Amino acid sequence: MFQRLKEKWHLSWPRFILVFSTFALGGSLCGYLGRMVMGLSGLEKNVLYYILYIILVTLFWPFCVITISIPMGQFPFFRNYLRRMWGRMVKKGRESGLRHEGSENQLQTTNHKHRTTLAIFASGAGSNAQKLMEKFTNHPFIQVGLVVCNKPGAGVIDIASHHQVPVLLIEKERFFRGDGYVEELQRQKIDFIVLAGFLWKIPEALIRAYPHKIINIHPALLPNYGGKGMYGMRVHEAVLAAGETQSGITIHYVNEHFDEGEPIFQATCPITPQDTPESLAQKVHALEHRHFPEVVEKLLSEV
Ligand code: GRF
Repeated sequence: MFQRLKEKWHLSWPRFILVFSTFALGGSLCGYLGRMVMGLSGLEKNVLYYILYIILVTLFWPFCVITISIPMGQFPFFRNYLRRMWGRMVKKGRESGLRHEGSENQLQTTNHKHRTTLAIFASGAGSNAQKLMEKFTNHPFIQVGLVVCNKPGAGVIDIASHHQVPVLLIEKERFFRGDGYVEELQRQKIDFIVLAGFLWKIPEALIRAYPHKIINIHPALLPNYGGKGMYGMRVHEAVLAAGETQSGITIHYVNEHFDEGEPIFQATCPITPQDTPESLAQKVHALEHRHFPEVVEKLLSEV
């Protein structure tokens, strides 16, 4: 159960322990306050007493966990957690209201303050891009507005057209020596960039225009097996040649150096003696498909 929660919240073990302790301490504090207030009310312990106690505890709970989260250093997690919980409650309320009026379609556009528009940069088959497009079709606060590709004929172009996402084919000269397509991206109202198998280095102009708003997925556990030339099968071959017993994925912010930006998330998979570069690639791809869309969603729900 703990492992599942840890993965769901994308936390390291030390942080998971702090978050879990905050839940426990916040819950105890709120039970204590509830009993104290009920004691002051002088009510006898009958059905009404317990109903009022439950209402009080429900109302106190968010304040208690938020208060405890501050000394535990977990305030950002709990602020986002409560925000999401509140968002879900509002959504449920709206859903039932709209269902009542028979107009469910309004839902997708009314329940989030700002819709984030993503551009997916990809050069290859596009299986990760596909997972992202599937996840964010009719999503309440994220949409894929553009696929940016540097290779005519790449598989990702067909996937984009299947999902009715426009494609921008870019050329080297303008990307590296021009404005990095910043103007075009801004004209298309792109808020956030996700690299999913994009093989060109991101130019400084683009990094400056999208600070902390460009992320990449790498098919290994950075800081190992990254950097220039480490892509595709080469990564898995290097991992196996080094005799590693596990590999995995890294999702990280993009800076001006290949695969060196601040890490956001990692997940691992075991390597067996029977593994080949192909079978390892399959395991890593499965991890990517499972986690990438969720990590993007979580990241964007926190901004
Ligand atoms: C993925 O393995 C990703 O980690 C790397 O490029 C690959 C893209 O695969 N950056 P696909 O095109 O999404 O199938």
